[in-house]
Amino acid sequence: MRDTKGIILAGGTGSRLYPLTKVTNKHLLPIGGKPMINYAISRLSSADVTDIMIITGIEHCGAMMSLLGSGASYGCSFTYRVQDEPDGIGGALSLCEDFVGDSDCIVLLGDNIFNEDLRPHIKKFKDNDEDCMLFFKSVADPRRYGVGVFNKKKLIKVEEKPEKPQTDLACVGIYFYSNRVFEVIEQINKSDRGEYEISDINNVFIEEKDCSHSIIKGRWSDAGTMSSYHTTSWSVYQEK
Ligand code: DAU
Repeated sequence: MRDTKGIILAGGTGSRLYPLTKVTNKHLLPIGGKPMINYAISRLSSADVTDIMIITGIEHCGAMMSLLGSGASYGCSFTYRVQDEPDGIGGALSLCEDFVGDSDCIVLLGDNIFNEDLRPHIKKFKDNDEDCMLFFKSVADPRRYGVGVFNKKKLIKVEEKPEKPQTDLACVGIYFYSNRVFEVIEQINKSDRGEYEISDINNVFIEEKDCSHSIIKGRWSDAGTMSSYHTTSWSVYQEK
């Protein structure tokens, strides 16, 4: 069975949290008393995924390494890569091809805070020998997200930030892929906003009928806006 590498995407501009992100990386900001990035690390390590690549932007990459070090204090091994330009989630992921090699990978968006246990999902992914597994959560404001379009229970496509969402099911920032994802990234072009969109990548797998999905049962939020940053931080803090 192929082994599984972890990837945490912690680049981007953090513009929606400006000026908090003027002098630091968004993923170093505190959530519930810990740096935001610690939550993604903890989800991976508690699923025994300890070989982890962390992608950061050029600014503040030194601070990221100062905080996390080699990973030994987290029971992990961290490898860092710098994304020179914030050309999207797909662009950040493309930097991980050599690191992933023949393995599968779990990609987490560093600003997604959740408590779902990934282990049963990893088992299902391996048992089914799939190339792509996506996760959805019902949300109040789907226009902010990639949104799933379904025919009965069958996933038809993911629409990125649709003006008129067809469902309230957000495609959350937890993605399981085989290393075929790197072939797929080669096939996609930048979107109108100049980014390699993760939804375009996922739609290739969906069209090829090579993608399964699950609904997240636990707590999940994207802490990337000022309002969700505060509500996420408060709910995580209260849970302790
Ligand atoms: O939170 C889930 C949503 O995340 C998905 O439903 C959307 O389909 C997906 O596109 C994404 O939308 P956002 O607008 O929230 O993405 P954002 O630009 O905030 O980037 C999410 C994370 O990805 C962020 O924590 C850092 C990382 N990132 C982003 C960009 C643009 C990078 O590492 N490099 C980048 O160039």
